[in-house]
Amino acid sequence: MAFRAQSPLLSALRSAQLARASVRFASTGAKPLTLKERLAELIPTEIEKVKQIRAEHGKKSFGPVLVDQLYGGMRGLPALIWDGSVLDAEEGIRFRGKSIPECQELLPKAPGGSEPLPEGLFWLLLTGEIPTQEQVKELSREWAARAAVPEFVEEILDRCPPTLHPMSQFSLAVTALNHDSAFAKAYQEGISKKDYWQSTFEDSMDLIAKLPNIAGTIYRNVFGDGKLPPIDPEKDYSHNLATLLGFDNEAFVELLRLYITIHSDHEGGNVSAHTGKLVGSALSDPFLAFGASLNGLAGPLHGLANQEVLIWLRKMQAKIGENASDEAVKEYVWSTLKAGQVVPGYGHAVLRKTDPRYTAQREFALKHMGNDPLFKLVAQVYSVVPDILLEAGKAKNPWPNVDAHSGVLLSHYGLTQMQFYTVLFGVSRAFGVAAQLIWDRALGAPLERPKSYSSDAIHKMFKQ
Ligand SMILES: CC(C)(COP(=O)(O)OP(=O)(O)OC[C@H]1O[C@@H](n2cnc3c(N)ncnc32)[C@H](O)[C@@H]1OP(=O)(O)O)[C@@H](O)C(=O)NCCC(=O)NCCS
Repeated sequence: MAFRAQSPLLSALRSAQLARASVRFASTGAKPLTLKERLAELIPTEIEKVKQIRAEHGKKSFGPVLVDQLYGGMRGLPALIWDGSVLDAEEGIRFRGKSIPECQELLPKAPGGSEPLPEGLFWLLLTGEIPTQEQVKELSREWAARAAVPEFVEEILDRCPPTLHPMSQFSLAVTALNHDSAFAKAYQEGISKKDYWQSTFEDSMDLIAKLPNIAGTIYRNVFGDGKLPPIDPEKDYSHNLATLLGFDNEAFVELLRLYITIHSDHEGGNVSAHTGKLVGSALSDPFLAFGASLNGLAGPLHGLANQEVLIWLRKMQAKIGENASDEAVKEYVWSTLKAGQVVPGYGHAVLRKTDPRYTAQREFALKHMGNDPLFKLVAQVYSVVPDILLEAGKAKNPWPNVDAHSGVLLSHYGLTQMQFYTVLFGVSRAFGVAAQLIWDRALGAPLERPKSYSSDAIHKMFKQ
């Protein structure tokens, strides 16, 4: 009997049919398969099917997109509008057209300080304008005045076991703030669409204002004595945040100013920014929307990477010791890759060069802590990892991202509890998500609802 050559896709589909037939046959056996066992049987066939579809059709257009983009996490797909910040693959982030060094130069600073005040960055994100010193001072005062957290939210945090990850606690508390949402109340009372932005603005201001108290409570409950000092209405946001965490070193406050500014926003498509926008598009209020953002930020491929980097560096130090040779560092990096793990803090879905947020932190480190052994290790890792990732040949971007550097700076000043690092990323990310939510409501952005397809639809479209 003559066999006709079959396309790999058809063979994959045929295997799937055979797998389905075999389950019918198997069902006559003694012990029926559990749902999980059955799934475990199906998965390898489906993986093969997707591989084949991408190999045969990946570069073909499926409507306005490529098949590869359907399967590939929508990389590069133009799908969102956000004027607040734009990420260039080569140059990095610009906030309303301004690079990080330009923001450092132009945004107002605290008296005697040299890093930008995040208050100014929020003003810039919302208006595209550089505020005056008095305007940011007023914003600091307004946030301090709105900073109190409802008692029941404090109680929720106090009841969390210290073993619950700080990001889960953070997300719980932020979600619970929706109890007092001005937007949710106004919506129930039947406000007009054109007024949505106003209560969204009020909620966003409350959200940002309350985050230092929430972050401080989590930090002190999990790692300290649970007692929180009061906010000082005459101090700026970062200063109050540092005090709530129990740090009074002025250099640490400067670090927080830089940290919040550079972590605030990274255009609209990253997981936390996009999640906030998506959930907000259902007219969920800013607390619900940002709670969802935080859950995305808590993933190790996104914000949790800053925790992962420090854990990885500490393990490396424990294994190869301080002042290890480049060869020993290289070997450790290779062992990470060979174990099927990613090198945390390296690579990016959009960037193809060293992240300017990494560079800004490196410059801060050179200025304030050039001799810190962990900073030296971070610099050494920077000198060896890109070549290794290039040689390994998988990562599209071998260069460091923001998370490769943030932990070492915090740890230098005594904030050594790595599980807390992503909470600080979350406090910062609220600035970008809130600005986006306000503009989305002002512009009447519609409910997000992209279309999903089955793999069979792709197969049908391209069958001869
Ligand atoms: C950020 C990240 C998730 C981007 O993912 P992406 O857009 O899919 O990246 P790429 O297209 O370059 O990935 C292609 C392959 O290289 C791998 N890769 C990417 N970065 C890598 C890294 N730092 N170490 C090892 N492998 C890496 C990917 O896991 C993927 O492997 P696969 O084909 O087996 O799935 C990825 O670079 C990563 O996991 N980095 C480490 C975690 C991190 O630092 N996250 C914070 C980002 S700001």
